[in-house]
Amino acid sequence: MKALILSGGKGTRLRPLTYTGAKQLVPVANKPILWYGIEAIVAAGITDIGIIISPETGEEIKTKTGSGDRFGAKITYIIQDQPLGLAHAVKVAQPFLEDSPFLMYLGDNLVESDLRSLTERFKERNLDALTMLCAVSNPSAFGVAQVDEEGRVLQLVEKPKVPPSNLALVGIYLFSYAVHNAIANIKPSPRGELEITDAIQYLIDEPKKVESLQLQGWWLDTGKKDDLLEANRIILDTGLQTAVAGEVDDSSQVIGRVQIGEGTKIINCTIRGPVIIGRDCHLENCFIGPYSSVADGVTLIDADLEHSVVLQGAKVTGIQQRIVDSVIGQRAQLKIAPQRPKALRFLIGDDSQIELI
Ligand code: G1P
Repeated sequence: MKALILSGGKGTRLRPLTYTGAKQLVPVANKPILWYGIEAIVAAGITDIGIIISPETGEEIKTKTGSGDRFGAKITYIIQDQPLGLAHAVKVAQPFLEDSPFLMYLGDNLVESDLRSLTERFKERNLDALTMLCAVSNPSAFGVAQVDEEGRVLQLVEKPKVPPSNLALVGIYLFSYAVHNAIANIKPSPRGELEITDAIQYLIDEPKKVESLQLQGWWLDTGKKDDLLEANRIILDTGLQTAVAGEVDDSSQVIGRVQIGEGTKIINCTIRGPVIIGRDCHLENCFIGPYSSVADGVTLIDADLEHSVVLQGAKVTGIQQRIVDSVIGQRAQLKIAPQRPKALRFLIGDDSQIELI
């Protein structure tokens, strides 16, 4: 079995972070979102992985993620020239997929689930499509499935105004080669895309064997700031091991599960886990509270922060109020003068959000 990860798209909902990079490379607990997917796929025993990339962000994904060696996989990069839909991406990947069954994974999704249960079910029941579903409170934002008691899929609709159920399609699917014929027979949707939901509906109507599995753990579509912070919280809560490689001076306190990377200096700080701090950072006179991720090369001086993500090379100095629920972009600088500031001076990127609350 092969895997196809979709990692194109423009990431409009995560602007401004995605002006300078791919949404799938935004880190959660200091690791790109995309890499969690690759690791889960390899853990399920699939090592031949195709990654769909866009002309805009593909190079960055390729450079950072590499040949697959670091994951024990072989990665083939496939360019999708235009974002014409998930089914279009499968069409573009056909020369890579050949007639192999494959697992399709949307690269900005994070799930707590063992993908092996999915691949085993698919093989055992000799299916043409297996979709993963999750009960949600806002089904209209997703593809929605109607299923019978045994998990057979009766109907699928993309972003319905009146949803037939609360079961959303999680961005993980398994297909036999029959999907290629289905894709060849569907037409673009009103939003101008070849929808994978329409291809699956075609398989249901043929009729082919299409079933579903309900996700047991959590699922996060990391498209927006709050989802990103939530993903960060869950990963730090469930997956973080204590490991301190940097230097922590005697006047600092490190409490709970905390990871500190090599070359990082912690001076007179209190760090209350779960917290991850990358390499080559400088932290002085800071309180770093639970559910914070600080990437490599960050400087934090006289700062107080919790439940926040600070990206590579950012600098925060002299902020006495606690920074909460925040995402600070790469190389961003935030500074308050030691004496009471008389003016505020900004150079803020497009689509940035600043709230003085
Ligand atoms: C896509 C699929 C949708 C699915 C969702 C999961 O939507 O079309 O069926 O529920 O991913 O994240 P999109 O993110 O393209 O709007």
